[in-house]
Amino acid sequence: MRVLGLESSCDETACAIVESAQQAVESAQHNGAPVITDDSTGLRVLADVISSQIQTHARFGGVVPEIASRHHLINLIPVLDEAFATSGLGLESIDAIAVTKGPGLIGALLVALQAGKAIAFVRDIPLIGVHHLEGHLLATFLRNPEAPSPVPPFPHLGLLVSGGHTSLILVEGFGRYRTLGATRDDAAGEAFDKVGKMLGLGYPAGPAIDRLAQDGDPTSVTLPRPMLGPKGGLDFSFSGLKTAMADHLKRNGPPADPQALASLCASFQTAVVEQLVRKTLLALQQRRVGALVLSGGVACNRGLRAALAAMCLERGLSFYVAPPRWCTDNAAMIACAGYHRLRAGERSDLTLNASATLPL
Ligand code: KG4
Ligand code: ZN
Repeated sequence: MRVLGLESSCDETACAIVESAQQAVESAQHNGAPVITDDSTGLRVLADVISSQIQTHARFGGVVPEIASRHHLINLIPVLDEAFATSGLGLESIDAIAVTKGPGLIGALLVALQAGKAIAFVRDIPLIGVHHLEGHLLATFLRNPEAPSPVPPFPHLGLLVSGGHTSLILVEGFGRYRTLGATRDDAAGEAFDKVGKMLGLGYPAGPAIDRLAQDGDPTSVTLPRPMLGPKGGLDFSFSGLKTAMADHLKRNGPPADPQALASLCASFQTAVVEQLVRKTLLALQQRRVGALVLSGGVACNRGLRAALAAMCLERGLSFYVAPPRWCTDNAAMIACAGYHRLRAGERSDLTLNASATLPL
């Protein structure tokens, strides 16, 4: 099965084509070429196009919903054209459509959703609406051509850290998710972006803080590690850390030199990472699962990747994270989640609508 994925929930217009191993075998046989495929290394990505609006929104310090919708409208057809051009495939070779149905910005979501419905209607092929977070959670079920590796086993623990969400999710199988903990205030990515804004690092500031933190001293500034006490369980909190950074800047003024800025970034990043690692470890111990999957935009963070990889190595747990391109918003993860729902026999009809908020 070949699935066309479409995503426009925030500020990325994206389109991807994925195919199952079985499909790859059939295509190769048709072309007379032998291929060895292995389903356990994930779905093949035949096209993966992302048009980012980051530059457009950067001067406003965040995503402006109305501008985002308009840009999705302008970008969608060129992005689709590019996906077909780069894969050498035509619309007739697509077997099904997967499109993000929420959560996200409602006007933005509607652009890909309507396009997906139109294509499904015209081609008379199955359509499936996908939860954006399910896409993030399943990004490691895509085959990374640079380093093909086995897909994660079930059950596993998912740590999903993005601009809008920070959650620990027990993933028992495709479509079987149990949220064990979530942020009580800001998401981790939101904390990176807001603190970065205070430091004049532009939008989104996560990648800039990550870069600067590489050369900083993480012990230079003492910051809180809110664990929320015994009743906090597996929940997170990042707003106190953000306030502590604002207080530090008020008391000391902006960092005096590049080294001081780097050390402040390293101190902040370490405080975020420590909280994420400690709660994740607690969840792994409570649930006795042997595998951890990291996903969402903040999964690009090198400090977080390294800390979780080290924690898993030390405790004999397996650790999975997708390449950075599939951690931030993309359509390959949506096509992947859609593929697994379609394979389980699920379909959406043409009354499918977008929702700004949507439980997993
Ligand atoms: O998953 P995503 O692309 O969009 C949402 O669904 O929210 O995540 C975007 C978030 C932003 O907050 C961005 O600052 C953060 O991911 N991010 C990072 C890094 N790369 C992206 N945060 C920390 N370090 C990074 N390297
Ligand atoms: Zn996302």
